[in-house]
Amino acid sequence: MSAADVKTIAVTGVGVMGAVIAQVYALSGYSVRMHDLSAARLDWAWDRIENHRFGVKRAVEIGRLSRDDADAALERLTATTDLEEATSGVDFVLEAVFEDFGLKVDVFKAVDRLAPPHAILTSNTAGLSIAALAHATNRPSQVMGWHWFQPASVMKLAELVVHDGVAPETVATVEAMARRCGKNPVVVKDDIYHWGFVANRIYGAVRREARDIVAQGIATREQVDQIMKDGFRWPMGPFEGIE
Ligand SMILES: NC(=O)c1ccc[n+]([C@@H]2O[C@H](COP(=O)([O-])OP(=O)(O)OC[C@H]3O[C@@H](n4cnc5c(N)ncnc54)[C@H](O)[C@@H]3O)[C@@H](O)[C@H]2O)c1
Repeated sequence: MSAADVKTIAVTGVGVMGAVIAQVYALSGYSVRMHDLSAARLDWAWDRIENHRFGVKRAVEIGRLSRDDADAALERLTATTDLEEATSGVDFVLEAVFEDFGLKVDVFKAVDRLAPPHAILTSNTAGLSIAALAHATNRPSQVMGWHWFQPASVMKLAELVVHDGVAPETVATVEAMARRCGKNPVVVKDDIYHWGFVANRIYGAVRREARDIVAQGIATREQVDQIMKDGFRWPMGPFEGIE
C-alpha cells in the first residue's frame, strides 16, 4: 500500500502521547478513530486536543492554524471504546497504550485480527522490541515502530524503527506519512542483540553520566545544565524539566 492509499487511521491508547498524535494525523488530513478503554479517557483526550497548550485552540490563538482548518481537523476525529469499530476498514493503526510488553502483544494480536489485511500496524513504544510485536501478528512485514516525541504536535523527529522482516513498501509508506505530518523521519534498525531506539539510548547515557557527575560532587545539576547549554549549544540541560 502506498502512502496515497492511507485515508483512515486508528489510534489505540489516547493518553498523553496518543491524543496529540491523533490531533497531528487529523490536522494532516487523515480521518482518525481514537480508541481507549473508557468514555472518560476519550473525553480527556478530546479536551487535551482542544484545550491543551499544544492543542488546536492555542494554535489558532497564536496564528499557527486557521479556525477553519482546526474545525475541519476536529470533524475528521471520532472516538470509541470498541476496538472493532475503531479498526474496521482502517488503512493504518498507531498503538500508544501503556509501555507494558504483555499488554502491547495483546493489543497487536487483537488489532491484527480486526483490522483489514492491507493495514499497516505501528507502535509508539519508546523501547520495546518491534520484532517481537511484529511476530505476534500474522503480518510482520506490515509492522514497524513510529516513535513520536513529546509534545507530538511540535517535535520534528519521527524515529521509525524497523525489524529484519519489514517490507520496504511498508517503510516507504510510513516515511511518506511522517513527512505529510510535518516530521523528519529517520529509519533505524531494531536488532535482537542491540536496543534499536537511538534517541532514548543516547539520552539515557547522558542522563546516567549527568546523575553520576552530581552524585560524585563534581558539579551541581544547575552547573551541568549550564555547561551543556553554553559548551555544546544544547537548548536545555539534562536536568531541565526533571523534578
Ligand atoms: N510520554 C512520553 O513522553 C512518551 C514519549 C514517546 C513514547 N511514549 C510511549 O507512548 C506510549 C503511551 O505513553 P503515554 O505517555 O501516552 O501513556 P498514558 O498512560 O498517558 O496513555 C496510555 C493510554 O493507553 C490506554 N490504554 C491502556 N490499555 C489499553 C488498551 N488495552 N486499549 C486501548 N487503550 C489502552 C490508557 O487508558 C491510556 O489512556 C507508551 O508506549 C510510551 O512508552 C511516551
